[in-house]
Amino acid sequence: MLKVDLGGCSSFVKDAEYQEYVDKALAALDVLENETGAGNDFLGWKHLPSRTPDSLIADCEAIRDSWKGKGVDLVVVIGIGGSYLGAKCAIEALSHSFAKQLSGKKDAPEIVFAGHNLSEEYMAELLDLMKERNVAAVVISKSGTTTEPAVAFRLVKQFIEERYGAAEAAERIVAVTDAHKGALKSLATQEGYRTFVIEDNVGGRFSVLTPVGILPIVLAGFDMRSMLKGAAEMEEKTAEKSRTNPAVEYAAMRNLLYGKGKKVEILVSYNPKLQYLGEWWKQLYGESEGKDGKGIFPASVSFTTDLHSMGQYIQEGERMLMETVVTVEKSSRSVTIANDPQNLDGLNFLTGKHVEECNAMAELGTKLAHIDGGVPQLSVSVEKIDEYNLGALFYFFEKACGISAYILGVNPFNQPGVEAYKKNMFALLGKPGYEEQAKAIHERLSK
Ligand code: PA5
Repeated sequence: MLKVDLGGCSSFVKDAEYQEYVDKALAALDVLENETGAGNDFLGWKHLPSRTPDSLIADCEAIRDSWKGKGVDLVVVIGIGGSYLGAKCAIEALSHSFAKQLSGKKDAPEIVFAGHNLSEEYMAELLDLMKERNVAAVVISKSGTTTEPAVAFRLVKQFIEERYGAAEAAERIVAVTDAHKGALKSLATQEGYRTFVIEDNVGGRFSVLTPVGILPIVLAGFDMRSMLKGAAEMEEKTAEKSRTNPAVEYAAMRNLLYGKGKKVEILVSYNPKLQYLGEWWKQLYGESEGKDGKGIFPASVSFTTDLHSMGQYIQEGERMLMETVVTVEKSSRSVTIANDPQNLDGLNFLTGKHVEECNAMAELGTKLAHIDGGVPQLSVSVEKIDEYNLGALFYFFEKACGISAYILGVNPFNQPGVEAYKKNMFALLGKPGYEEQAKAIHERLSK
């Protein structure tokens, strides 16, 4: 079971201050549970783990099996932001680090992602790959109108139709989008694509446990039932009106530290498989809290790698940082360090030790050093990296995010600031209806 440990913050806060923030977090939890807060029409994510019907997973498995029957060995998953990061995080965390390089028969197709950037080189190189492979695609967009995935999907759709014909393309493309509205919904209906629905009451960054995450994760060959089980246990645990509710503890402490000038929170992991947990978490917290001139800035690092790049700043730079370490208690593989009779590197004191023991001591040593350097440390630990624990992490961070944003006094479920760049981009690209903005921008740029 996921645990929160706040011992690494004790020298930075007084217990009475912390208890005051726990009271605030419990009040925010009430608002979330009673659905009386800002954005309360976007709370559909709260009961996804316990209410997702098994038939949804079975439908995803049917697509997986039908594509397997066609020999599909590459699935292009198209989406951005909340329609991308959850699936990317889960698949990176659960896959063999060298899956692509390993020889031997693969049970599941390779999953690649597109539509999360506007790089021409990335698209051209994706098309190079598609030319060599047996391809299917999943296009994901809640609004159905987001530019990046729409551009990528045009190219992928065209490729699949030219290669396999329109009828077969409809068998090889699945859309995940709104039930009724948006260009993607209209396109999917017109082309006869199988479609999964993202409910209106679930925002993009809270959608990993909807078909947005479920379909790609099932296609990649992972156990979605176990992920939902881990999330369901967290759903129950984090609903408790208790001072030891882990989401309450985490939300209370990070907000208390924010009030003490710790404006940046770094999510830390010691396993490269969790790099994208940091990316997913950054979107969740950045878009939910960063508004009205407020919010903890979310950053992420992968240690020990980044101790050799960001370590200096964290240890001695501006003291505005707090760290949240995602600790994984057990490695699922075993490798011990060999003896070297020459001992030229002087490391024979490590002989026979597991590599993970070195990692654990690096983690503990770093914790002590960073606390000494003025960086409080929150810890979220899970037993191992698997579907069950990832499900627990996803739900835990979502629930804590809702509580946290209500403590801060912002609406966790909107993202008005995301529109600003889009308006400028559309004006610069000549989208009809943006003529006035285009004129103003060109005048501004010519000064
Ligand atoms: O959290 C959000 O709502 C956004 O970041 C979206 O996930 C992102 O913009 C993608 O939107 P859509 O799924 O509508 O294409």
